Amino acid sequence: MADLSTTYLGLRLANPFLVASCSHTKTVEGVKKCADGGAGAVVLKSLFEEQILADMHESEIQTEFLWHPEALDYVQRMGIELGPAEYLRLVRESKKAVSIPVIASLHCLTPKLWIDYVRKIADAGADAIELNISIMPSDPKRTSDDIEKRHLDIVESVTRAVKLPVAVKIGPHFTSIAHMASELEKRGAAALVLFNRFCQFDIDLEKLELKGAYRLSTPLEIALPLRWISLLAGKVKCDLSASTGVHDAAGAVKMLLAGATTVQLCSTLYLAGLGRIGAVRDGVDAWMNERGMKTLADVRGKMSQMRSGSPELYERLQYIKALVGIE
Ligand SMILES: Cc1cc2nc3c(=O)[nH]c(=O)nc-3n(C[C@H](O)[C@H](O)[C@H](O)COP(=O)(O)O)c2cc1C
Repeated sequence: MADLSTTYLGLRLANPFLVASCSHTKTVEGVKKCADGGAGAVVLKSLFEEQILADMHESEIQTEFLWHPEALDYVQRMGIELGPAEYLRLVRESKKAVSIPVIASLHCLTPKLWIDYVRKIADAGADAIELNISIMPSDPKRTSDDIEKRHLDIVESVTRAVKLPVAVKIGPHFTSIAHMASELEKRGAAALVLFNRFCQFDIDLEKLELKGAYRLSTPLEIALPLRWISLLAGKVKCDLSASTGVHDAAGAVKMLLAGATTVQLCSTLYLAGLGRIGAVRDGVDAWMNERGMKTLADVRGKMSQMRSGSPELYERLQYIKALVGIE
C-alpha cells in the first residue's frame, strides 16, 4: 500500500481526500459518516453571512458594509437553516465525534462582520477555516478592482483575527487568477480552493419562471480547475485544494499530478454515496502501486506546468491542429 498521508493547512491528514462543504457535513451524524467513509478531513457546510446578519439586531447592521442589503430580508423570509449558535455547536460536537480535522466554512461578502465570529469558531475547536467568497459582479458601476479588493480585505481581516490556518475558496471568474492567487497568499491564505461551483440558473419555458439547474457537476467540469492547479503549482507557496468535477480515482490522480495538495469530493458523493470516498482513495492507491510510487511526493505536481518540458502547452487557448490534434 502506498503512503497517502499528507499535510494540508499545516494539519496532518491520513489521505488527501476531503468531503467538500455541502449538506453531507451539516450535521454531526453526517460528519461521522464522512469520517467512517475514509475522508482525510471534512469541510463543514458553510455558515452564510446572511445568517449572521439575520441573527443581529437591525441597529447593529452597518449597511454601509453590505453589498446585498436585500439578502437580509430574503434570508429572514426563507428561514434560517443553521444559525450562528448552532454552527458553533456543530463545530464543537464534530470535533468530539471524529479524529480527522474539521474545517469550518464561512461564506463571506464583507470584511468586517466576521471578526468576532471567527474567534468563536477558533474557540469551538475548528482545525482551520475555509472562506467561501462569492461576490456576484452584476453591478456595472463596480469595477474588477473593487471586487478583487473586497476579496483581499475579507481574507486579510480574517487572517489577522485568528491564528487558525485559513483556506480561501474562490470562483474561476477573475481576469488574472494567477495574480489573485498570489495576492490572496500575501494576505495570509494558507490554501486556495479552486474552484467553487456556483448555483446554476435556468428558465422554465412552460411556467416562464426561473429554475435551479445542474445542481451537481459532471466529470467534464474537471478541466478548468485541473488547468489552473497545473498552472499555479509551484508558483504559489500555499496549498492548492482541488474542487469541481472530481468523480472518481482517475480525476483525483489527475488533480494530484497537476499539483493539488488535497482533492475535495462533493457531487460524486450525492450520486454514488459516501462509499465513493474509500473507492477514490483505494483507486489512487492502486494506481500508485502499479507504478511503484510510494508516497504522494512521487505523484504531486509531476504534470504541473513548472515541471513540464513543454510549458507552452498549458497556456494554449486556441485550437491549433499541430498542437492539439484537432481543428
Ligand atoms: C448540495 C450542495 C451544497 C453545497 N454547499 C456549499 C456550501 O455551503 N459552501 C461551499 O463553499 N460550497 C458548497 N457547495 C459546493 C461544493 O463544496 C463544491 O465546491 C462544488 O459542488 C464543486 O465540487 P464537485 O464537482 O465535487 O461537486 C455545495 C454543493 C452542493 C452540490
